[in-house]
Amino acid sequence: MNLKEKYTVNDFTLKSLKTDLKDRVNQFQKWMEQSKLNNHEIYWNESLTCISPEMILVGGPENNSQNVISFISNDYLGMSQRDETKAASIEAIMKYGTGACAAPIIGGYLDIHRELEQKIADFTGQEDALIFSSGFGVNVGVLNALLGELDLALVDMCVHTSVYDGLKGTNTKKIKHNDPEYIEFILQKEVDRYKTKMVIIDGVYSHDGDIAYLKEIQEVCKKYGALLYMDDAHGMGVFGETGRGVAEHYNMLGEVDIVTGTFSKSFGSVGGFVSCSKEIADYLRYFANTTVFSAAITPASTASIQAALQLIVDKPQIRKKLWDNVTYLKNKLIENKFDIKNTASPIFPIMVRNPFKAKEVTRLLKERNIYAIAIVYPAVTDKDARVRMSLTASHEFSQIDYLVNSLVEIRNIVYF
Ligand SMILES: Cc1ncc(COP(=O)(O)O)c(C=O)c1O
Repeated sequence: MNLKEKYTVNDFTLKSLKTDLKDRVNQFQKWMEQSKLNNHEIYWNESLTCISPEMILVGGPENNSQNVISFISNDYLGMSQRDETKAASIEAIMKYGTGACAAPIIGGYLDIHRELEQKIADFTGQEDALIFSSGFGVNVGVLNALLGELDLALVDMCVHTSVYDGLKGTNTKKIKHNDPEYIEFILQKEVDRYKTKMVIIDGVYSHDGDIAYLKEIQEVCKKYGALLYMDDAHGMGVFGETGRGVAEHYNMLGEVDIVTGTFSKSFGSVGGFVSCSKEIADYLRYFANTTVFSAAITPASTASIQAALQLIVDKPQIRKKLWDNVTYLKNKLIENKFDIKNTASPIFPIMVRNPFKAKEVTRLLKERNIYAIAIVYPAVTDKDARVRMSLTASHEFSQIDYLVNSLVEIRNIVYF
């Protein structure tokens, strides 16, 4: 088996190629051909069904359909497929139509938008909240609005890409992953050089599934007068006694200055939010460009998110089923000696540590009708290449058994 790939997608950026657009897009075909040749066309798979544990994929040279058990969804609580959330969406469409069709600042602001903002503020233990039409857009818009060239952002090296897009134009230092002592070391050195200092972390890290050392990091921030910003996209609905996220998990609701999140995971929809003080929220309503200059989130999504929020509060048994599944899979993977790093969440990295092999694992899983995606460079370094799985409350133990048995079989073929 030739384990080395000739190209990565990063070979075709402007930085690498320094040619015009036409040449770059043409040359990118080399990467597409490499994927085809290796039978590694694993991205942009088309599905005929909803995104749930059982899916029907379509594709390949003969456009065949394939029933698969899927481990790719972030719909941790299965909210996208519940009658309550669907009914709420339908009702909202009938009342408000299919779109708000204007940015909220200039008219596209519905009563259900404001209701959702207030509910999210209460849920996250903050004074106020703003909602956006994408989770990605939250980090970009909020960070762009709050920080600039006189400020310093200390960013955990494992945060989501959207954070970096929000920090263009701000002095940014990447900090070692989940390392409060290192944060203190940098803050101590830099404290007087910048106007605003902000430490930016995720609640749950989306590739490794581990969670922030929130208490220690918050103490350091307080000591040096730095603001703390936590993107809890994967923690909301999943962590904490009542599903309020990683802050609740640590009994620290309301103690993080700015909390962001997305509605595309535990809320089963699309969009995102920022929760913070009333003053910061008021400021963002005029300066966060990704909402000021962008149409409001749809009525259908707004209503289904409200229904999902109600279910998170009313039905803790859904979260319990998710955690039963997490414990079941985790024990099986540990028993079978898979390297799953430090995961403490429904996100499972199966470390393969070679990009070609990671794609082979994905291909062989798919041959066994299991759908899980290889994560390779540039998302992670080559030695961190892995297959990423996520679990939901809708998975069955029998599906998890089949996954683990298949992984054991494949490990004996691919040797990782
Ligand atoms: C940590 C984190 N933040 C933000 C986002 C962006 O959210 P969305 O996909 O809802 O736009 C993601 C998406 O995967 C994420 O994992």
